[in-house]
Amino acid sequence: MCGIVGIIGTKPVADAIVEALRRLEYRGYDSAGVSTLENGRLTRARAEGKLRNLEARLSEVQLGGHTGIGHTRWATHGAPTEQNAHPHMTSKVAVVHNGIIENFQELKDDLVAYGAVFSSETDTEIIAHLITRYIEEGATPIDAARRCLKELSGAFALAILIEGQENLMIVARQGSPLAIGYGDGETFVGSDAIALAPFTNTITYLEDGDWAVLTRDGAEIRDLEDRIVNRPVQKTIATTLLVDKGNHRHFMAKEIHEQPEVVSHTLSSFADIAEARIVLPDLPVDIEKLDRLTISACGTAYYAGLIAKYWFETYAGLGVEIDIASEFRYRNVPLKSGGLSLFISQSGETADTLAALRHCKASGQKTVSVVNVPQSTMARESDAILQTLAGPEIGVASTKAFTCQLVTLACLAIGLGVKKGLIDRDRERELVNALVSVPRHMSHVLQMEDQFEDICHILSKARDVLYLGRGTAFPIALEGALKLKEISYIHAEGYAAGELKHGPIALIDENVPIVVVAPGDELYEKTHSNMQEVAARGGQIILLTDQDMEQNGLELAAKITLPPTHPLVHPLIFALPVQILAYHTAVFMGTDVDQPRNLAKSVTVE
Ligand code: M6R
Repeated sequence: MCGIVGIIGTKPVADAIVEALRRLEYRGYDSAGVSTLENGRLTRARAEGKLRNLEARLSEVQLGGHTGIGHTRWATHGAPTEQNAHPHMTSKVAVVHNGIIENFQELKDDLVAYGAVFSSETDTEIIAHLITRYIEEGATPIDAARRCLKELSGAFALAILIEGQENLMIVARQGSPLAIGYGDGETFVGSDAIALAPFTNTITYLEDGDWAVLTRDGAEIRDLEDRIVNRPVQKTIATTLLVDKGNHRHFMAKEIHEQPEVVSHTLSSFADIAEARIVLPDLPVDIEKLDRLTISACGTAYYAGLIAKYWFETYAGLGVEIDIASEFRYRNVPLKSGGLSLFISQSGETADTLAALRHCKASGQKTVSVVNVPQSTMARESDAILQTLAGPEIGVASTKAFTCQLVTLACLAIGLGVKKGLIDRDRERELVNALVSVPRHMSHVLQMEDQFEDICHILSKARDVLYLGRGTAFPIALEGALKLKEISYIHAEGYAAGELKHGPIALIDENVPIVVVAPGDELYEKTHSNMQEVAARGGQIILLTDQDMEQNGLELAAKITLPPTHPLVHPLIFALPVQILAYHTAVFMGTDVDQPRNLAKSVTVE
């Protein structure tokens, strides 16, 4: 994940910025850079690789100046070269950026026509050129930045310096976290409080859509509509911890809110976003000959695998055998030597999944693991790994690891489809662009969080809750039920909507809320019939959808309408409301959200 640091100070800042960037190293990066304002002029030093390379560069060029920005970059648009490293700048503007600018190509085309000369392959550089253009056209620096921000589409965090403005930094947050830190005559900005811990423990977290004008005296924060807003100033304990809760009450809430950022980073490692192409690492099988895949995982990771089964079938033409690892390991599954087995695990240490992996290896299978911890046993014992870049997940209930697993598996399915000749270039472009839009849509859903409160009150009074879904919404129903039961202790079950009549319908009466996950796709009508069956028996329907479909007189207890998205990414978007529902219901009930009773984060025993 990229990291951002900025300081408007009273003494030279370059070394302090590197020190703060070092605290963001845990997020992973492949190049780094610093820009300062020295006597009003923008300077810059960048280096490929680790921070020690940047330090070596800084010892040669010695950047002065009391105002500066720094960045650690995890490559998204363009290779991890010095040329693509941040800050990106013109003679007037320097910028560091975290996230993806989705509409960068059209903005770039306009800027090239205007006469801008680009020196990197990044999406970020358009920001420096666009603000420069507006300044050249007569706008003040703040207005130029404001106009630029309004034109950007995507999920991002930014810090911007302007030539000649040593007491000014403009920062913005849309989907990627950003914290402002307050010192004595100094102001700071960082991707998280951990970066700012050497300077201050007095922090304000920006909310999505916020942008702020920083000076040495503090910050003026504005929201999406340009209204000045007061965000709480809080004391952080990040000085002593490598992970903290930010401005959230629980790690789970923080991790839910990190999803636009971590999904974007994970996507960046399996896709060339500028080219809208999937880029997979080498896999230990001949993909053209591959016709079957075996998947094993536990819990939430298993549900990620269930969703991926639909994708592997649809996009890669692969038959999929998927099982819960604790069952798989004791079945006598006939495994063809040289076949491919896939394992999915946040921790990479889950005993049953590890045993399934060892069983497959012993049967001559090639093994690939989707893991979040690259040093884990599963990562070490697999023939290849696809690493999710969710960062440390502390809450026992898995959230961001799940959506990062999904985006990884979607890339794998599309990449295999391309290699097998089932997906042409146009289709690949369409599917990758759908994935690129996910962080922005997730950020939109997170801004709807208040709408979920009334539903959580309904759920908190229930003894049993049913979740229904069809297609890829079925595993989301299973995941929603698991989330609710593990942190609120309310009994919940997920069912395929078509199974309702085969048994679960007997449970329905006016005391049973039924959460229906129903994107407006070709299966919606079928699910609508199931909702009518539920309504006829007095069930309270809570509909999660993404379209304003005709309800034909159907009475709903509640309805949440998410932004409409490409069918490929429905599960990535619908994962968020079921997480939010579980989280707020548990908070309302006063349970131990991050460490629910009887559960361990990583189940390393059978
Ligand atoms: O570390 P893993 O992904 O292998 O863990 C698998 C399950 O134990 C895990 O997903 C569990 O179901 C979570 N508590 C769900 O929120």
